[in-house]
Amino acid sequence: MIFHPVCIAGTGSYVPERVLTNAELATRVDTSEEWILTRTGIRERRIAAADETTSHMATHAARRALEQAGLTAAELELIIVATITPDTPTPATACYIQQNLGATRAVAFDISAACSGFLYAMKIAKRLIASGAFKNAIIIGAEKLSSVTNWDDRSTCVLFGDGAGAAVLRIAEPGEGSIIATEMGTDGTLTHLLQIPGGGTACPITAANVNEQLGTLRMLGKEVFKHAVNRMKEAAEKVIARAGLKAEDIACVIPHQANLRIIDAIADRLAVPNDRVFINLDKYGNTSAAAIAIALDEANRNGAFKRGDNIVLVVFGAGLTWAAAAIRW
Ligand code: UT7
Repeated sequence: MIFHPVCIAGTGSYVPERVLTNAELATRVDTSEEWILTRTGIRERRIAAADETTSHMATHAARRALEQAGLTAAELELIIVATITPDTPTPATACYIQQNLGATRAVAFDISAACSGFLYAMKIAKRLIASGAFKNAIIIGAEKLSSVTNWDDRSTCVLFGDGAGAAVLRIAEPGEGSIIATEMGTDGTLTHLLQIPGGGTACPITAANVNEQLGTLRMLGKEVFKHAVNRMKEAAEKVIARAGLKAEDIACVIPHQANLRIIDAIADRLAVPNDRVFINLDKYGNTSAAAIAIALDEANRNGAFKRGDNIVLVVFGAGLTWAAAAIRW
């Protein structure tokens, strides 16, 4: 069997207009601008309008990625959406996006791997294209975390935001870059560290428990922090080694945007200087599956790397899940 090299032909992102600053949050819960900034690195986040769904944001991001890739929606063969905040439990958010785009040929489905979802989607799409099953795909990370945030819980509500990012993957032409190495991992013994406990079959939301905020994110932050640093470091090291790279060969590391202290610890452990680490969590907070997708698009469009450069993406999230990718752009 021949495996085709697979490249990223275009990226796109979208964030809602409404900015929620740390100062405004400090008027709602017992926190301060200074605590949020020094403990997380976040200054502000975007909040989607009431009628702005995950698929709306994702559709905007997808259109921008398709445009940059020079691919029409009609040519698109596969849509994979990573989200923990789907428009509806079923059908998949990917199906609404297929409809919005008019991508009538595309097979469309969602995956659920929390903040790691975009890189899980990247590996799945890469393999499906490499094997010849599909010629191209769009992968999308999109979240409306504001809809699953407990706005009375200061330990979580200061962290999250809304947005979407997308990337078009296709068979690489000779001379183009490619996704060189990918890594994924899961530790299901630690599901309790970060979860939305209610709303599924384990704990349906009922009239009796409707006020208990069971449908919102709960996190044991300190524990998650520790695992995040270790797992992301290991995953990044694996793809760097598999790609035959050294720290000095990497033009840009794009990590999950959850906490600046986590990002600094990883950069330090990978021995990559801070000016080669892309950060935008100050503007958007943690947008789960969307975070690395938005960061990839902004880094791409801001010239953080150029054709031929090596970049490393690394993520971590609920599950626990983690993933990394080494890409020659
Ligand atoms: O995206 C998935 C992956 N997620 C992550 O990677 C998140 C990982 N975790 C983190 O980023 C950090 O653990 C947090 C930012 C969530 C919390 O930072 P921390 O330094 O671990 O703080 P902590 O939870 O240990 O809390 C320290 C103190 C506590 O007070 P006491 O017990 O020391 O008196 C908290 O009650 O800070 C308090 N605190 C706050 N104070 C002001 C917690 N949240 C706030 C707040 N404002 N918003």
